[in-house]
Order: sequence, then C-alpha cells, then structure tokens
Amino acid sequence: MRMPVSLRNRIASLSLALLALLAAIPGAAAVDPAREAELTDLVRQDCGSCHGMTLKGGLGKPLQPQDLEALDVESIASIILEGIPGQPMPPWKGLISDADAAWIARKLKEGFPQ
Ligand code: HEC
Repeated sequence: MRMPVSLRNRIASLSLALLALLAAIPGAAAVDPAREAELTDLVRQDCGSCHGMTLKGGLGKPLQPQDLEALDVESIASIILEGIPGQPMPPWKGLISDADAAWIARKLKEGFPQ
C-alpha cells in the first residue's frame, strides 16, 4: 500500500525539524572518525603548543578534566570557538566547526584521547 503524499510530506518535514533540533544541541552533531583523528592531532599539537603536549599547562592553563570542572561543555566549546579576548587564547572558529568544538570540549571533560 502506498502512503498518501500528504502523510509523506508530514513525515519529511518532521524529520527535518528533528534534524534541526539535533544540530542545535551542542555535541549532538556527529563528528566522523577521520575528523576525530584530525581533531585529536590538532588538540595535541596546536592547543598543546600553549597548553602543553599532555595538556598539563604551559602558557595556557592545564586542560585536564579536573581543571575544567567549573566549565560545562558548552562554555568550553564557546571558549574554543571565540578565544579569550585580551589573552593569547586564539579563536578557532575559522578552522573548526561548532560540532568539532563540541567534540573537543566533550573529550577534554572526559580526558582527552592520546
Ligand atoms: C597561543 C596560545 C594558545 C593556543 C594555541 C590555545 N590556547 Fe587555550 N588558552 C590560552 C591561554 C593563555 C588561556 C588562559 C587564559 C587565562 O589565563 O584565563 C587559554 C584558555 C583556554 C581555556 C579555558 C581554560 C579555563 O580553565 O578557563 C580552554 C578550554 C582552552 N584554552 C582550550 C584550548 C583549545 C581546545 C585549544 C586548541 C583548539 C587552545 N586552547 C589553543 C592560550 C592558548
């Protein structure tokens, strides 16, 4: 039996709404495994140049889970995207997406992968 067109359209617009909703939740948008590997290198090397290769601090503060307890994933993602004005912490939004920043923030809170 074929689905009536009107029902199909409703289902299509419902799934679009659901997608938009998911995209609006930070961290819900998926980062594929290849991108995860790139982001891991970026954090170790580029972030590591200031925060230390092991993220234990350098010019920038340490970024281990115990150091980030006061910040939620959303705040960390926004610091990564926007930088900290007046501090050497640069904005990364030209280089990484919102989903990338949310992934990095979540991983920093969990303990960043080696
Ligand atoms: C050029 C040096 C530099 C680079 C590169 C850099 N940061 Fe920073 N970052 C800093 C400094 C300095 C601060 C601390 C400012 C302060 O003392 O409040 C900071 C602060 C932060 C904070 C806030 C920490 C807190 O406890 O308040 C986070 C999170 C952070 N950086 C993440 C990152 C990530 C992730 C990257 C890579 C995508 C990165 N940083 C790259 C210099 C840098």
